[in-house]
Amino acid sequence: MFTRIDYYAGDPILGLMDKFAANTNPRKVNLGVGVYYDENGKLPVLECVKEAEQRIANPISPRPYLPMEGLAGHRKGCQELLFGRDAQILKDGLVATIATIGGSGALKIGAEFINQWFPHAKCYVSDPTWGNHIAIFEGSNVEVGKYPYYDKATGGIKFDEMIAFFDTLNKDDIILLHPCCHNPTGVDLTKEQWDTVLTVIQKRGLIPFMDIAYQGFGEDMDSDAYAIRKAVDMGLPLFVSNSFSKNLSLYGERVGGLSVVCATADEAKRVFGQLIFGVRRIYSSPPTHGGRVVDIVMNDEALHEQWISEVYSMRDRIKSMRLKLKSVLEAKIPERNFDYLTKQNGMFSFTGLTPEQVERLQSEFGIYMVSNSRLCVAGLNTSNVDYVANAMAEVLKA
Ligand code: LMR
Repeated sequence: MFTRIDYYAGDPILGLMDKFAANTNPRKVNLGVGVYYDENGKLPVLECVKEAEQRIANPISPRPYLPMEGLAGHRKGCQELLFGRDAQILKDGLVATIATIGGSGALKIGAEFINQWFPHAKCYVSDPTWGNHIAIFEGSNVEVGKYPYYDKATGGIKFDEMIAFFDTLNKDDIILLHPCCHNPTGVDLTKEQWDTVLTVIQKRGLIPFMDIAYQGFGEDMDSDAYAIRKAVDMGLPLFVSNSFSKNLSLYGERVGGLSVVCATADEAKRVFGQLIFGVRRIYSSPPTHGGRVVDIVMNDEALHEQWISEVYSMRDRIKSMRLKLKSVLEAKIPERNFDYLTKQNGMFSFTGLTPEQVERLQSEFGIYMVSNSRLCVAGLNTSNVDYVANAMAEVLKA
C-alpha cells in the first residue's frame, strides 16, 4: 500500500539536532538550530517564566478548550509587544490577532488565509530565507518566489536590486519580511532602507507579511519592531507572525501569534472570523499551558519588566560571543575580514563557509552548523568559543 510513498530526506535544521545527539565527541558543539543556550551550555528557564509556572501550578486548574483564537491575555500581549502599548490601531480595533502554535502555526494560518482570499497572489521571500517559509507557503498552495537580498560579495544587502524587483510585482503579491535579526543571514535593513521598502510596497499595492521571531535580540523591543510600526503609520495592510520560542525560551510550548492590521474595525472582524475558522479546520484551538505563561508574563507589570531585562541579557551575551569569536579568528587568520560577525544581528551569523567546510567541522570537530553556513552564535559560551574559533580557522585555512 505505501511503497510508493517517498522517503523524507529530513529537515536541514531540525535534523541536525538528532545528528548532534548521536555524536559521542565530548567536545561537540551545537550551533545548528536557532536556540539560545546560556553560558553553561544549558537551555535556560527564564525567571519570569518560573514565577508564571508557579502561579499556574498553584492551584492546578482545569484545562478547558480555549477559544479558537486563544487566551485574550496572550493575544493582548502579542499586540502590545508588536504595535506598542498605546497604539491607536489597538484602541480602534483595527487588528485581528489570534494566539498560534508557535511562529510556524502563525505562518500556516496566514498562508491558508492568503490562499483562500488572495488566490492570485504570489508570496516572495528573501534570498535566502528560513527554509520553512517556503515549505509552509507552498504547502498551502501559495506560489513562492524569491527577491534579491543577501549580497555574498559584500556581506550586505542587494538593496537597489531588491527595490527594483519589488517595483515589478503585482498588486496583492505578498512580501515576506524579517523585521529584525534576519534568519539565516543576521543582516538587517536600516531604518532608512525600511522606509524605502515600505514606500515601494505601498506604491505597488503589495502586502507585507512580517515574521518576527527574535524581537529583543537585535537592538531592543521597540527598535526591533520599527518596520512593523512604520507600516502601521503608513496605513498599510499588514500580516505579522510572531514567536515567543526564543524571547521567552519556550520553544516546546509552541507559543506565538498572528496579527492582521486592517483599515476598519469591520474588516478586522471579518478577517478575525476567517482566521479562527482556519484554526478550527486545522487544529480547533490552541493548548492551554504556554498561552497561560504568555498571558501572565505579558500582563503582570513586574514580570514583564523582569522579562525584558532577561531578554536583554541573552542579547548581550550573544553580542559578547560575536566579539570573542571575531577576535580569535582575526588573530588566527589576520588576512581575512571577520567584521561580519559583529555587524550581523540576532542569533545567527552567515559565515560563508562552503558546505564541505561545514561538513568537516561536523565530522572532525563535532561542531554543527547549518549547511548554508549559518552559525547560531547563541550556542557559543566562554568554554567552547576558542575551540570553535580554532576549528573554523583550521578549515578556513585548509
Ligand atoms: C531555526 O531557524 O533554527 C529556528 O527557527 C528553529 C526552526 O524551527 O527551524
